Amino acid sequence: MPPHDNMTKRFYIETVGCQMNVLDSELVASGLISAGYRQVSRSREADVVLFNTCSVRQHAEDKIYSALGRLKNVKDHYPHKVFAVIGCMAQKDGALIFRRAPHVDLVVGPSQLGRLPELVDLAAAGGGPQLEISLDRSQGSHLDAKRNFTPFNPERLLEARPAAHQAMVRIMFGCDMFCTYCIVPSVRGPEQSRPPEEIEAEVRQLARQAIRQGVCLEVTLLGQTVNSYRYHAPNGTVHLADLLYRLHDIEGLSRLKYVSNCPKFITQPLLRAVAELPKVTPYFHVPAQSGSNSVLHRMKRNYTVEQYREMLDRINSTVPGAAVTSDFIVGFCGETEEEFQDTMRLVREARFKNSFIFKYSTRPGTKAAELYEDDVPYKVKQRRNNELLALQNEITEELNSRLLRQTVEILVEGPSKVGAKQDTSGDKSDNNGSVTQLGGRTVCDRIVVLDGPRSLIGQIIPVKIVQSCGLTLFGEREV
Ligand code: 5AD
Ligand code: SF4
Repeated sequence: MPPHDNMTKRFYIETVGCQMNVLDSELVASGLISAGYRQVSRSREADVVLFNTCSVRQHAEDKIYSALGRLKNVKDHYPHKVFAVIGCMAQKDGALIFRRAPHVDLVVGPSQLGRLPELVDLAAAGGGPQLEISLDRSQGSHLDAKRNFTPFNPERLLEARPAAHQAMVRIMFGCDMFCTYCIVPSVRGPEQSRPPEEIEAEVRQLARQAIRQGVCLEVTLLGQTVNSYRYHAPNGTVHLADLLYRLHDIEGLSRLKYVSNCPKFITQPLLRAVAELPKVTPYFHVPAQSGSNSVLHRMKRNYTVEQYREMLDRINSTVPGAAVTSDFIVGFCGETEEEFQDTMRLVREARFKNSFIFKYSTRPGTKAAELYEDDVPYKVKQRRNNELLALQNEITEELNSRLLRQTVEILVEGPSKVGAKQDTSGDKSDNNGSVTQLGGRTVCDRIVVLDGPRSLIGQIIPVKIVQSCGLTLFGEREV
């Protein structure tokens, strides 16, 4: 396709899954924009439609396959449109996607995303279906697997970024933990930490962009198990704590976060770094997955509930006021009522700020799928999910209500998801007279809704909490 044609081509990306996928979509957008494409917000306006997919649970895959099914009609009417399936499900299902949805042109795994502009051009030029994925990780050595899953770090274009005031920065790829339920190590490849100087250069670039836009910058460092980051440099190994010190003083950087943590690597040096560095948020997402030792053993999590509790004590004593969040899987293979009640007990005692709760979904190719029967009936999984969620919500509400009448600092992220409204009265109006319902986040990752002009987006401001309603906090600007 000649470059002048590219200038008019438009692409649309639909993203599901975790923050890794959100970041990958942004990086893909960067690559396509650099190649002369323009991003649009509606699939029907696009020449190239990309689905960035997730394989972590069956439900996510089913949704993608039904969306792909609906596209057949579109392809019949607009045969020139290019449909691409990228990300984790592309890696996992490969050519099966062409068999289930023959109108798909491209299937590209997470490690091949750098080649996407070239592959889109090939497909658009009638080059037939293109399949680009890494070899199965179980074939060949660890080193082969590392070569085969190549990291993808393109330039961070401001036009491709959802907002100038928030950015995710990947510090490591893949995962070597092999928890028995999890598909991630096979779809994202072996753990590979990025060199610290490369990460620093990227954060500096993002900070310069934020300064130019007149906004604060919050950076979230990403890794499947972010706190196992370790880079072997000639003068010693660099761990996450060292990286936090290295990035902390970058001009234009206001907040530094990192997700997701593995309980095993919450070290004292990491906790001290969080306690000492004011820009690093006292917020820990440390998935426990279960509160039962026998379930943790079957999951191959390599820690006990006692060790997890001890870790919570260390967080609370070293970083006072820290907020901890967790993930839980209910209905894992063989989970008895007693084992589930152990999880309820952990949640009751740990008083997490929030928990993400998932019903176990068996993943072909994982150890759990091979070794254990998915024997907890769906109805039981559903009931346990509801029970745990109700308990967590009660705790979240109680913790939220303690913030009433307190003043907290929030980073204003954008229009609130709760809803937008127009209000032209009184001193709440900005230059255009319009006040919007905005959403922001505290350092402990609590969402606060407030009224204010859009000019506050990207600023860190003090807000007084005036209402705690269900799971939502409402604030007023402190003047
Ligand atoms: N079934 C259900 N939930 C899962 N997760 C990972 N694998 C599975 C699975 N097979 C959950 C874990 C993880 C989160 C991102 O997704 O709780 O922390
Ligand atoms: Fe993210 Fe895992 Fe889903 Fe891939 S499979 S999108 S890494 S949650």
